[in-house]
Amino acid sequence: MRKAALHNLGCKVNAYETEAMEQLLEAAGYEIVGFEEKADVYVINTCSVTNVADKKSRQMLHRAKAKNPDAVVVAAGCYVQAAADKLREDAAVDLIIGNNRKADLVPLLDAWFAGKEIKESITDLAESNEYEKLHIKKQAEHTRAFIKVQDGCNQFCSYCIIPYTRGRVRSRRPEDVEEEVKILAEEGYKEIVLTGIHLTSYGIDFKDEGIDFLTLIKRLHAIDGIERIRFGSLEPRVITEMFAEELSKLPKICPHFHLSLQSGCDDTLKRMNRHYTCEDYLYRCGILRKYFRDPAITTDVIVGFPGETEEEFEATKAFLERIGFYEMHIFKYSRRAGTRADRMPEQVPEQIKNVRSEALLLLEKQMSKAYRESFLGKKKTVLLEEKTEIEGRAYMIGHTMEYVKAVVPYADDLKNKMTEGVLKEALNDEVLLLDESWKVV
Ligand code: F3S
Repeated sequence: MRKAALHNLGCKVNAYETEAMEQLLEAAGYEIVGFEEKADVYVINTCSVTNVADKKSRQMLHRAKAKNPDAVVVAAGCYVQAAADKLREDAAVDLIIGNNRKADLVPLLDAWFAGKEIKESITDLAESNEYEKLHIKKQAEHTRAFIKVQDGCNQFCSYCIIPYTRGRVRSRRPEDVEEEVKILAEEGYKEIVLTGIHLTSYGIDFKDEGIDFLTLIKRLHAIDGIERIRFGSLEPRVITEMFAEELSKLPKICPHFHLSLQSGCDDTLKRMNRHYTCEDYLYRCGILRKYFRDPAITTDVIVGFPGETEEEFEATKAFLERIGFYEMHIFKYSRRAGTRADRMPEQVPEQIKNVRSEALLLLEKQMSKAYRESFLGKKKTVLLEEKTEIEGRAYMIGHTMEYVKAVVPYADDLKNKMTEGVLKEALNDEVLLLDESWKVV
């Protein structure tokens, strides 16, 4: 039996596709082993989002070849779309598979082992509007399943290469998503997270049929066994009164919204080619707060974007405070060759990026603590996920619907159980403890 090892780089969509490729290999009779082990096939699902990601992708490909020079090394995904020519010349790489072609992995390997000369499967994504069919039946994480429902992006933010590596918006058929979610529900998954490259664009290619993001959500909401539906990153403009009101009628929807902000300064947003203003963003958060009680609003922020002055940064910081986020992912702007932002003249020195990042991380910590602790004394449901240890004591840890971490004392039959109780105290800066009255529901 041939052994195959896979390694994922990049985002949740890529991770989903790595799982799908792994399951295709398994179904074809490969034994899946850890990436550190000696394997006959190494698949690296690459990322190309920054110059650093490109470098990491190359390093992993070379590391795989060094592990076993006789193995077949497969480069898949975004770095293939961005640098196919380079990879064709790279002696460490045997096969290359672009995005939208990952389902070709097994036939391509069959051809390789049969001694055929076919070494790649790549398509021009600027031309393609076909959603590639990939499926999963399980996931490494056992309580929460990430489901890819959409690919591609039409936004062209000035710092981002993804529209070039992923192509135009393509949505997955709702019946196909439904089928996968039903299988996962039967497997015992209680929570799903809908993900996509630009999730909010779901359905723009199904307009004629009247299918949109809300249609998909409602269909998945009706599936028995699924108790929670969470969303990946959302574009703020998707939040309208109608959308929020409809969502609020669906009890399985987690009041946890990751609304990608990137900057709290209109001038910076303009240079980023983001299509909203801070006022607009604030308005969308207001809608969420009108229809959901204490929703968790989380976001991404880039510091040190080209041309970001001290005043612009301060404006961003003040805006973040004004919104009151639960969690923020702070990124230091990282250059990506081939993007407009990379060619902008006023690149910000690393040292300044570090200072700004530190300041926002501190703010994040404070806001996160305030939000989390606002739930003390309140009754919440917690889906328990795994064992953890805090100050020498064993607990089962999970999340509330708002994605706040909470624990109960450890017992070995609590994994994947939905529990309910009153949040009693903060054990540390991340985790709350349920009081003694908690019970499995
Ligand atoms: Fe990277 Fe491609 Fe995802 S560039 S972040 S793996 S879409």
